[in-house]
Amino acid sequence: SWTPATFVDLSIEELKQTIGKEKVVLGLSGGVDSTVAAVLLHQAIGTQLHCIFVNNGLLRKDEFNSVLDQYKGMGLNVKGVDASDRFLDALAGISDPETKRKKIGNIFIDVFDDEATSIKDVTFLAQGTIYPDVIESVSVNGPSATIKSHHNVGGLPDYMKLKIVEPLKMLFKDEVRRVGAELGIAKNLIGRHPFPGPGLAIRILGDITRDKVRILQEVDHIFINGLRTWGLYDKVWQAGAILLPVNSVGVMGDERTYEKVVALRAVESTDGMTADWVDLPYKFLQETSNKIINQVAGVNRVVYDISSKPPATIEWE
Ligand code: XMP
Repeated sequence: SWTPATFVDLSIEELKQTIGKEKVVLGLSGGVDSTVAAVLLHQAIGTQLHCIFVNNGLLRKDEFNSVLDQYKGMGLNVKGVDASDRFLDALAGISDPETKRKKIGNIFIDVFDDEATSIKDVTFLAQGTIYPDVIESVSVNGPSATIKSHHNVGGLPDYMKLKIVEPLKMLFKDEVRRVGAELGIAKNLIGRHPFPGPGLAIRILGDITRDKVRILQEVDHIFINGLRTWGLYDKVWQAGAILLPVNSVGVMGDERTYEKVVALRAVESTDGMTADWVDLPYKFLQETSNKIINQVAGVNRVVYDISSKPPATIEWE
């Protein structure tokens, strides 16, 4: 039967066979999947693995630097590339969710390609694709209509001409986490909630500005830290905040305010294909709402999303 230990042993053997003395490039996202893929490859081929971590300007607060430091501490050969301006400039004025995804996907490929070609003689591209990614993307061209295009699958331009290695392709998320533990990856990395490739772009409804990104980062930070403090983070499969394109009237002291509304979303799931909203304690929601409204300028109302998937999706876009 399947165990993480035998999976690791067999994969390392197989990766050594397939890759030989060639070089491999891998895009790290800060998420569980790409991290586990990187560490597995690192154990198989060591310094032949070159990792690239791109800041698209749409990550969580302080995430780029803290995760980059953590990767370096793990001995991975990783280059951090801050391309925030390139992404945010290109997204200015765009509101359509699928257009956002496509822009982000295309810029990511450009940035990644520039970096990959600056490493000489790379033969393989490694990806942290897992089984549910494969399934959800099949529907993009299959009989059912496009739901959402996940840009991290099949996004390789022909001109890169790299061979693909996807060591986690047959695994579900919980199995990836078990493999990560087997590989000795720190708990805080393995236990991270899933986070979409397009990042906060698909949690800012309507057009994206730097100011909106900053507001949402602050809100998200308060929410996620609160979940940790209350011991709820590990009970939730995924959580985040959504900035709505709506202003509502409020009152602060003697002043009338007319500011943004944010929604909080927390779901339970095993693979993201279906999900239920989480029954978070009212006291927690109360404390979180107060903190957000008191500490984040520009927000005067917080709502909690009580929709399950289906028919709602996890992300709002
Ligand atoms: P939905 O919103 O489709 O999300 O219920 C299911 C899971 O997929 C993530 N998600 C994405 N991940 N690129 C990604 O890499 C995307 O464009 C994308 N859209 C959604 C979402 O965060 C959830 O975990």
